[in-house]
Amino acid sequence: MSGPLLEATGLHRSYPLPRTSVTGPRSHRHAVRGVDLVLTEGSALGVVGESGAGKSTLLRLLLGLDRPDRGSVRYRGREVRPGSPATLRWFRREVQVVLQDPMSSLDPRMRIGRAVAQPLRSLGVPGDHGARVAEVLAAVGLEPEMGGRYPHEFSGGQRQRIAIARALAPRPKVLVGDEPVSALDVSVRARILDLLAGFVTTEGLSLIIVSHDLGVVRHLCDQVLILHDGTVAERGPAAGVLDRPAHPYTRRLLDAVPRLPV
Ligand SMILES: Nc1ncnc2c1ncn2[C@@H]1O[C@H](COP(=O)(O)OP(=O)(O)OP(=O)(O)O)[C@@H](O)[C@H]1O
Ligand SMILES: [Mg+2]
Repeated sequence: MSGPLLEATGLHRSYPLPRTSVTGPRSHRHAVRGVDLVLTEGSALGVVGESGAGKSTLLRLLLGLDRPDRGSVRYRGREVRPGSPATLRWFRREVQVVLQDPMSSLDPRMRIGRAVAQPLRSLGVPGDHGARVAEVLAAVGLEPEMGGRYPHEFSGGQRQRIAIARALAPRPKVLVGDEPVSALDVSVRARILDLLAGFVTTEGLSLIIVSHDLGVVRHLCDQVLILHDGTVAERGPAAGVLDRPAHPYTRRLLDAVPRLPV
């Protein structure tokens, strides 16, 4: 592990709420309130919190997809300012994203092979794109021939694997995932988690993973950040925080996780 890769300082983001009266002051929902974080190289950070805690808002800010009201995001010391795809190309080249719902990010009229190659084209990655597509499809357990098919010909879990393959195609340094494996069944999930963990150890990939599944966070992440109502309730090494939570909110969150009989 080495120095900071992605750093957020004092992030705030609020959304205006619908007006309840014409003359009254407009109130706001403070989705993220003063969040700082540091992702070091080769590290995996899990972001945990109940629904509405601000996890997806935080990820959008970290990815330069949304502008904070206050605070800043830096990647390798350079500020990430939301803007046109061209101005953020330097950042996208190294930081890729997998969202929860792959259908929203896959063009229904584009064959899978072309979709997976898309970041290679748009980022101007040199080399044999076809070979790289076959390689990443195989890595997520899909046949290279499947590249000729369209998104609707796949199951939800397969589409999620396609989204992961596409994110890994340009060999990013950081993969940011918003519930990236929630749609997958248990055996495929285990395989994808092993695949991601392998990228972390062998290629120095860094991860930021939002997951409601604490098993996923435990398996994949060495650091964890507990978000509560837009603020950091607790953070630290994943094993320590999840086994011996210091904050009452974290304890409640852990107690709320259903435990399957073994
Ligand atoms: N575009 C938006 N407009 C208005 N309010 C928003 C918007 N996006 C998020 N919010 C509000 O901000 C808060 C945080 O939302 P966010 O989506 O970040 O939560 P989350 O932790 O990702 O929840 P979940 O686990 O359900 O995905 C919520 O109260 C939500 O209603
Ligand atoms: Mg969310």
